[in-house]
Amino acid sequence: METGQIRHSWTDPDAYETFMGRWSEQLARPFLSFADIAPGGRVLDVACGTGVLTKALAETGAQVIGIDASEGYLAGARRHRSHPNIAYEQGDIRRMRFDDDAFDAAVCTLVLDLLPPPEIERVVAEMRRVTRPGGVVAAAVHAFFAGMPAFDLVLNTAAVLDTGLAALRATRAGRRHLWANAHAELWRKTGLGNVVEIPMAVDCTYPSFADYWASVTGSPGSITAPLMATSEEVRGAIEKHVRAGYLAGLPDGPRSFPMMFRMVRGVVPA
Ligand SMILES: C[S@@+](CC[C@H](N)C(=O)[O-])C[C@H]1O[C@@H](n2cnc3c(N)ncnc32)[C@H](O)[C@@H]1O
Repeated sequence: METGQIRHSWTDPDAYETFMGRWSEQLARPFLSFADIAPGGRVLDVACGTGVLTKALAETGAQVIGIDASEGYLAGARRHRSHPNIAYEQGDIRRMRFDDDAFDAAVCTLVLDLLPPPEIERVVAEMRRVTRPGGVVAAAVHAFFAGMPAFDLVLNTAAVLDTGLAALRATRAGRRHLWANAHAELWRKTGLGNVVEIPMAVDCTYPSFADYWASVTGSPGSITAPLMATSEEVRGAIEKHVRAGYLAGLPDGPRSFPMMFRMVRGVVPA
């Protein structure tokens, strides 16, 4: 995603649920226990998407504002994850309308990893600005290098057969600002204290190869468009080899892939 642009593929909330929402559901509670936000506060969920984390926060008793650019995702959030403690609103997380110190905490899952580095810094600075002294600023990001085996199976196969997908693999893996402890460094650079970063994993269990392949080919993620742009012949070969990797010589059925995240938290100095 280039600076100044918001990826246009974030529109269909149901496609997001199949692709990632069902896994970010599993991340939400461990992430909140790591973030360790004092109960009953006012919390901002930055780029709330379909409201996975927003709803989990509301269920802990927090008063939550969920902000996102995508009207489609916000509509899905209001439909499936409404709660009396939640207000969903449309906005750009790079320039938020909120006053300084307006929240007791600001949180963000699976968003910073989509942005180019200058925008990540801008968003984290915004999260710090709107959080009161003593409040928590916390995030979780994907571990793009070797931390997403379900998608690495596709990319490592496709990279052998298509130069565009080989270049995408290099771009994703080479994002040093997402490597271990890079977020902790950014949190410190932003002036946050008591910074902690840890890895975390959830199980992504697909019921069958068909479900897995459909979530890859119909997703808003960065692999789908270049994969679908390959010729039928190349895509057919990629699917054949990925299927063999998924099945691993066993009958079709459920397979669990771990998905790794980096979680970081810090406190706004008093
Ligand atoms: C991968 S989704 C994560 C959604 C949610 N936080 C979760 O964990 O399931 C990324 C979200 O970031 C939002 N987004 C990307 N850039 C944005 C921006 N500049 N302002 C507001 N939202 C943005 C997208 O609309 C999308 O909902």
